[in-house]
Amino acid sequence: MFPMLKDKNILLGVTGSIAAFKAASVASKLTQLGAHVHVILTANAQKFIGTATFEGITHSKCYTDTFENADDLSQSHVTLGTQADLALIAPCSANLMAKLAHGIADDKLSTTLLAVRCPVIVAPAMNTHMYENAATQENVEILRRRGITVIEPGAGPLACGTTGRGRMPDPEDLVELCVRHLAMPKILENKRVLVTAGPTREPIDAVRFISNPSTGKMGYACARAALMAGAEVTLISGPTSLPPVQGAHLVRVTTAAEMTRAVLECAPQTDIVLMTAAVADFTPTHPSARKTHKERADHDIELSPTADILATLGAQKHQGQFLCGFCMETEDLLARATKKLHDKHLDMIVANDLSRPDAGFATDTNRVLILTHDATVSLGDDEDAPSKLDIAIHIIQTIAARM
Ligand code: CTP
Repeated sequence: MFPMLKDKNILLGVTGSIAAFKAASVASKLTQLGAHVHVILTANAQKFIGTATFEGITHSKCYTDTFENADDLSQSHVTLGTQADLALIAPCSANLMAKLAHGIADDKLSTTLLAVRCPVIVAPAMNTHMYENAATQENVEILRRRGITVIEPGAGPLACGTTGRGRMPDPEDLVELCVRHLAMPKILENKRVLVTAGPTREPIDAVRFISNPSTGKMGYACARAALMAGAEVTLISGPTSLPPVQGAHLVRVTTAAEMTRAVLECAPQTDIVLMTAAVADFTPTHPSARKTHKERADHDIELSPTADILATLGAQKHQGQFLCGFCMETEDLLARATKKLHDKHLDMIVANDLSRPDAGFATDTNRVLILTHDATVSLGDDEDAPSKLDIAIHIIQTIAARM
């Protein structure tokens, strides 16, 4: 079910950076998804990685020089530029960003990039001080104003020995961005989508809390799928160890009360709400601000119910808004899910079968029933359970078809 890049032409520009080795993995993954990947290396890129690597991976010529094969027009910089469906520059040096911003075309890559008419994604990779330099930041602004996607580099230890912003994203994330741009029809363009994900934590005292094993994987997959479909996405997330979803507006919360506030503030401006979060139904009534020592511990914890966020949204749903709930059950899956669909005034509910080992909490795969008021679709009856991203894409397609 995962969207393929069959017959898409992707121009991959690689500049001089220690991260150039990651570009080989990007080229490999894009090729495996069916894309024709045309790689151009700058002179400095060739100090880090060679043409033979990319030619072996992509089964296509890897370009370095503006004038090589100048008599073959099918390989000219103009042709490579105009035939591209997407241009990705990864890693992109400060120098190439400056050239792009100011229209300088003095080698094969910068010349070709002036001729492209497709979306361009730039993944900067450099020393933190270079990235934060005012000139570089102004160039980033110029490129973004022109509609070029400049990915915010990650923070962490850099090859130069410093720690800070400047890391190129992982190849998987770059490939996903390409898929988002190319493979999935923009069925949710101009729609605002709110996704909640992960568990909540309800404090007992300063060091203890009540929570559940949700990892947020299903919710983060839904945020990705909505972005692929062209939506503007807000992701309200309880505590998880997952990296942020590139392109989604991330709001981090901890307790059910914080999640309630964040969701109720955002929901009125939202076309679609996907409530995948495993919100605690009860919270300790009198949490202690200090650590409770065992010799003074009370064996009973008084609990109070939390607000049911989804039921509140269902009661105040605005015209045209689509509400999708999620539930996890160990028994009576269909009956319980149907009751929640009606009781909470939802348009759709996705029911997880917790009795299966490859479904539910923490897994990368899932088996679900998708219930609407007139249909029930089962995903995951095959021997191999579908991935959570596959299921998320199916959910997004179902919602788009019904809106
Ligand atoms: N939900 C919510 N607010 C809560 C609890 C749950 O918005 N306080 C949402 C979840 O995000 C999910 C759906 O409601 O989309 C799950 O519904 P429900 O099954 O009622 O939650 P459970 O806690 O599993 O309820 P029960 O124990 O009654 O099965």
